[in-house]
Amino acid sequence: MDVVKAIRERRSIRKYKSTEVESEKVDTILQAGRWAPSASNKQPWHFIVVRDEAMRKKFAEIHNYGRFMAESPVVIVVLGNPAKHPRYHLADPHNAVQNMLLAAHYEGLNTCWMGIRETDIEPKFRELLDIPEELRVICSISVGYGDQERNSNRFPLDEIVSWEKYGNSEK
Ligand SMILES: Cc1cc2nc3c(=O)[nH]c(=O)nc-3n(C[C@H](O)[C@H](O)[C@H](O)COP(=O)(O)O)c2cc1C
Repeated sequence: MDVVKAIRERRSIRKYKSTEVESEKVDTILQAGRWAPSASNKQPWHFIVVRDEAMRKKFAEIHNYGRFMAESPVVIVVLGNPAKHPRYHLADPHNAVQNMLLAAHYEGLNTCWMGIRETDIEPKFRELLDIPEELRVICSISVGYGDQERNSNRFPLDEIVSWEKYGNSEK
């Protein structure tokens, strides 16, 4: 699959079949995360793969906008490590997340990104997963075979792009 096609076709999916996700596909997703660009190549990220249904149900209970984590057979929780990069420990894991979403799409899987960082649920995820205090809990990603079709939209380019200087619409 070509990368531009994957970027255009990936959608956030919030309903999943119970079909298990193959381990090799999870590995492909994690490899894609690992190969994201990283400031000074410090790679200030860590990924926790959660398949356990009881744990996913706990995630669903505490995340108002992520109830479907109870359904998606895999949830990946993404952490940032300020000790590895004080400035980019948030940005770099986000780069990894986007790579993982695209790799999942390539593998015929569906995903949804759920924010966690700096909310009242961050400490709850920390406690559930024994995450050390010095790491940030950035987000979680549901992974599975989707059971819905979704559309999305974006602002048109002429609303979000300038040419040569801010506000110049002449190409
Ligand atoms: C930082 C961030 C946090 C998000 N948090 C949630 C969330 O908590 N729950 C959810 O259902 N979707 C969440 N999303 C997914 C967005 O709602 C989704 O990307 C957006 O509506 C565009 O839809 P699309 O991804 O299908 O194009 C989040 C996306 C990002 C980038």
